[in-house]
Amino acid sequence: MMIAGKSYLLREGEKMDKIKLFLVRHFERVLVLIILAAAILGTLFMEDKTLLLNFYFLPVVVASYFLGKRLGVLSAFLSILAIIICAIMFRNHFFPPDQEFRGIFLLSSWGGFLLLTSYAVGSLYEQKERRMDELQKAYIGILEILSKYIESKDGYTKGHSIRVSEYAKGIAIAMELPRHVVENVRVAGLLHDIGKIDISSEVIQKAASLTPQEKDLIDSHSERGGIILAKVGMVLQEVVPIVVAHHRYFERAADSSGEALKAIPLGARIVAVADAFDAITTDRPYRKGKPPWEAVQEIVVQTGHQFDPEVVEAFRRVISSQIEQI
Ligand SMILES: [Fe+2]
Repeated sequence: MMIAGKSYLLREGEKMDKIKLFLVRHFERVLVLIILAAAILGTLFMEDKTLLLNFYFLPVVVASYFLGKRLGVLSAFLSILAIIICAIMFRNHFFPPDQEFRGIFLLSSWGGFLLLTSYAVGSLYEQKERRMDELQKAYIGILEILSKYIESKDGYTKGHSIRVSEYAKGIAIAMELPRHVVENVRVAGLLHDIGKIDISSEVIQKAASLTPQEKDLIDSHSERGGIILAKVGMVLQEVVPIVVAHHRYFERAADSSGEALKAIPLGARIVAVADAFDAITTDRPYRKGKPPWEAVQEIVVQTGHQFDPEVVEAFRRVISSQIEQI
């Protein structure tokens, strides 16, 4: 009985979560529909039926500005249709017996301006979207060039940043993180080793065992990466903490306090797993790369110690589906 009640509560909770997610994802659409419904109800119940005509500009502007020309024009058509139905139902309010021509002129000019507004604002929205798209492409291109430059420091890590970025993105998606967090994780994966450009190639490419000073120098690449990326400013402000913390151990932070765990952002815990997987499976001058299933086992052994258990769980789902596809 208790179990049945519990599973019912869980189902209800899941339903609520789905509704919340739907509302967040389609916020603008829901807002337009609410304003439009309010305008129609207002027109139906108010004494003066023409008083709220200008109110219909609000859903049309919101739809055009946030959803584009197509939905903006559609909401203008819906508004016009609603007013035509109201005009048929309450003819005298829109076309008083002695002022029919005035009524027709008023409604036609209102409808025309409504359509014109939706078209103009929608066009501005599309122009803005195109520019954003071009900027986004330039941004992605620059990041990829930068990641290739990072790899040029160490010939044995060719393609490492792009692979880490893809694994990290896959894990973030499997964890159902919001879209902007997935994007930050992907970018952090591309740039996680950028601090190495500040360190001499001889030390980075050294195959023999490193001296303690050289080891400290290589370990400093996370902090150095943070300093380099901080110069970019706002665009990468959420990527910087991920890059700085991508080699920190989960256990050390989790053991001390909840506050310390926050010092390792979730993105950094994701990049850490993706980075380790690629490092284990790639050939190095001093050892051969291991097969993926062996790399997964090595990572699982470190769960709760070096890696976050939740991240490893998502990573296993991503990798097992990839191995199945092969
Ligand atoms: Fe690194």
